Amino acid sequence: MPFMEWLDAFELGIKEFDDHHRHLVSLLNLTYDGVITGAGRDELEAVLDELIDYATYHFSAEEHWMTVHGYPGLPEHSEEHERFCRRVVEVQNDYHSGKNNLGIEVMQFLNTWLKDHILKTDAEYARFAKETATAFV
Ligand SMILES: [Fe+2]
Repeated sequence: MPFMEWLDAFELGIKEFDDHHRHLVSLLNLTYDGVITGAGRDELEAVLDELIDYATYHFSAEEHWMTVHGYPGLPEHSEEHERFCRRVVEVQNDYHSGKNNLGIEVMQFLNTWLKDHILKTDAEYARFAKETATAFV
């Protein structure tokens, strides 16, 4: 069983972002696999960097979509993205500088954050898309 399972409830009905979320889940699972199998530092660093780079790309894409469609929840949503980015950049820096190892605790944080974010915060813009019927990209 993968560390983070894909749930039907994650489906927003916006293909671009559903695809992004699936990819994020698979990158998180890849990172987790690296952690529990004791992958080397270089390998873990690379997969963590990829996960973070992809998350950053995905957040920008969502925020662009929200801007284009006049989504009123954009400020709060992007603030949530920013708080997450600040936290993971800390994790990344600590790992790069050897101050911290990547452990289950960090993996659990990423898992819980992503799950909650998709189910609650992202679900709100999906609702907006359905209500306004503007926005299926
Ligand atoms: Fe989001």
